[in-house]
Amino acid sequence: MSQDLGVRGYHYIEFYVGSAKMWAFWLAKTFSFKIVGYSGAESGNKEKVSYYLEKNSMKFVISSLLKPTNYDIAYFIQRHGDGVKRWSLEVDDVKKAYETAIANGGIPSRTPKKFENEQGYVEEAAIRLYDDAEICFFNGDNYKGIFRPGFIAPIQKINLETEDTGLLKVDHVVGNVRENEMDLWVNYMNKALNLETFLEFGPGDISTKYSALLSKVVRSKDKKIRNPINEPYEGVKKSQIEEYIDEYTGSGIQHIAITTDDILKTISTMRKNGVEFLSTPPDTYYQMIRERGIRIDEDIDKLKELGILIDIEGQGYLLQLFTKPIGDRPTFFFEIIQRCKGSEGFGQGNFQALFESIERDQILRGNFDRE
Ligand code: FE2
Repeated sequence: MSQDLGVRGYHYIEFYVGSAKMWAFWLAKTFSFKIVGYSGAESGNKEKVSYYLEKNSMKFVISSLLKPTNYDIAYFIQRHGDGVKRWSLEVDDVKKAYETAIANGGIPSRTPKKFENEQGYVEEAAIRLYDDAEICFFNGDNYKGIFRPGFIAPIQKINLETEDTGLLKVDHVVGNVRENEMDLWVNYMNKALNLETFLEFGPGDISTKYSALLSKVVRSKDKKIRNPINEPYEGVKKSQIEEYIDEYTGSGIQHIAITTDDILKTISTMRKNGVEFLSTPPDTYYQMIRERGIRIDEDIDKLKELGILIDIEGQGYLLQLFTKPIGDRPTFFFEIIQRCKGSEGFGQGNFQALFESIERDQILRGNFDRE
């Protein structure tokens, strides 16, 4: 039996947050997203407000509740704080993708539905993911309006234009799950979405002096969909994954990686725009890169100046940097990534430098020692 779901790639990602207007404006000013659509009281939705943002191929929806009776958002925000509610896959045929996913172990969340108005229709279905998230199957081929029925042009007529950050597309979406949950969700995604395990990091592979984690990466055969999943592993101190699980109150999406093909420009623009990144690695980190003698097209001094991390794999290498948590809780963050010369990894070589940097922040938050 063919398990092909007809997936074209990532489509929209929806965040549930305390104030959609603030998040949307912040992403517009700092990441140079464009606010393209709006849904709220003015468009006939008195329960929920959403801003629809685009940046190159990326589509973000930022939503908040307008009334306490919107239990879906109220519950999510109370339990998890600001976070990713759903990520979606653009598929050729929503019904076929959904039915295939369910036949292969997907847990139903929403059955296929058509959302229609005079500009056409979109179709959508969803399966469950982690505690309160969803993976959606979406098709908007037959809709001529903004994003989907219910969305209109933005109401605010203010100029949010800012210098282009050069951010391009979603590279991967990462989940953090509780102890013993990783294999459950790895198997779930592999079966339901017809993915395969691409990388595995076991005990001892990813650790600092004090804390550790396990990680597996599942991805589609065409490499368009990549979803690493992390689980805490026993260590002397509390790992960043444990901190996430505690602060998010459960399993959920940890970060979204966005590609650029000029990370020097992207990071310097984002820094200028006020985005906070994890602290810069020590000089010895860049010294070690130089000593390995691998040809890096970018000027290492400039990478060092901006705190960008470098990971070498075979002939390729990747450049990456992680933001600090975006919302109020130390949970969700973004990664900026540039893949060079065929790099396919996720920055394994940087894990130690990265985690030590996170641990410095955990100490400030009083979340490093177990209670
Ligand atoms: Fe990542």
